[in-house]
Amino acid sequence: MGQRIQAVKGTRDLLPPETAVWTAVERAARETFGAYGYSEIRTPILEDTELFVRSVGESTDIVGKEMYTFTDRKGRSLSLRPESTASVARAFVQHGMHNAPLPLKVYYIGPHFRYERPQKGRYRQFHQIGAELLGDAGPQSDGEVILMLVRFLSVLGFEGLVVQLNTVGDEESREAYRKGLLDYLEPQRGALSPDSQRRLTSNPLRILDSKDPADHSLLEGAPQLREFLNSESREHFEAVCGMLDRHGVAYSIESRLVRGLDYYTRTVFEIISEGLGAQDAIVGGGRYDGLIEELGGQPLPGIGFAIGEDRLIDVLPNRFREAAQTTSLVSVTAVPPVPAAEALILAEQLRDENLPILAELADRSLKSALKRAHRAGVKWVVLIGEQEQENGTVAVRDLEQGSQETMPREDLVSYLGGSR
Ligand code: HAM
Repeated sequence: MGQRIQAVKGTRDLLPPETAVWTAVERAARETFGAYGYSEIRTPILEDTELFVRSVGESTDIVGKEMYTFTDRKGRSLSLRPESTASVARAFVQHGMHNAPLPLKVYYIGPHFRYERPQKGRYRQFHQIGAELLGDAGPQSDGEVILMLVRFLSVLGFEGLVVQLNTVGDEESREAYRKGLLDYLEPQRGALSPDSQRRLTSNPLRILDSKDPADHSLLEGAPQLREFLNSESREHFEAVCGMLDRHGVAYSIESRLVRGLDYYTRTVFEIISEGLGAQDAIVGGGRYDGLIEELGGQPLPGIGFAIGEDRLIDVLPNRFREAAQTTSLVSVTAVPPVPAAEALILAEQLRDENLPILAELADRSLKSALKRAHRAGVKWVVLIGEQEQENGTVAVRDLEQGSQETMPREDLVSYLGGSR
């Protein structure tokens, strides 16, 4: 016997019946986002490493420590995508989509890769459901994107979630803040973690998302970005807050929220779920008004978010989960000596009437057929015994009620609610 091969560390197989929950969540996302005028975009999982270096940023944890990067057979540096905003922006520039009607609204669903230490809610292959709006700088777009996100989460049955909101300002405000932060941290350089000391020169703002406890206590007294906002950035943020107020969205302003990717400008947000422990962010997003230009396109603003689907499903409300896993399957069994072919004939007739049918064709002992039906969440088992076969009837067992009745075959479709 050969040695068994396991799934790669940090990756996992999604198996039935759990996959039914994933499908239902994704269907709800497609429906909700579609109702806001979003269409699907599918970009490659593999990109030039340079794309993420330029957009997410060289000094971020994602690019510096977590990317799956390798050289291909021709010596090109490629990376598995750690996120998709950069890919969407690249595709936008590559296909000259600024000529399409703007704003462009797209969503994506799929696997992403980060080499992180696996733990509950944190995987090396994880899945995002994301949406991006490109081509509008106004605060009403920030508002609508957040409203769409909140609506989607409420369709799934989430209650009491709070959007954590902040602004990181525009380029000018960030530059002013970078200086302010440097002035504060530089004299205490020695007390910072080695990573943060390096970032002092490369990208001081990234020190704010350090996970090192020593850095945390230093940052307690640090100046806050809010104090460095220019009036445009401040007004934009106030307008976004005003929109959320008007629509009754629960949010809290988190002045320390900066997000761990370099492309953000102005509005940033996250949604945290308490059920998740340390890895508690189920959504992250924000505005990225300089990204398209950074990637060689004409200046064009953008805003979006990505939901961690694995985490979302970990804390999914039970009602949605259960509804996703109940099937409307009907099992059809021919009881020996009636041949299995009879079950297949009836199954196909019922499928013609749009009924989803589990035909029992292999092991046809009544007992194991009933057991399988129970496990598959079947409500009705249709039995063709010798007597039914002769009379042109069927016996229908209702597994929920535990009752059984015999009826003419021609009554079966309407009894089961077919051809709706
Ligand atoms: P992000 O915050 O890096 O943002 O990731 C978004 C979400 O992906 C996180 O809130 C989390 O739920 C999930 N996630 C990230 N890493 C992992 C992991 N290792 N295991 C499980 N889940 C994970 C972005 O990726 C931005 N592209 C979001 C965005 C779109 N901003 C603007 N548009």
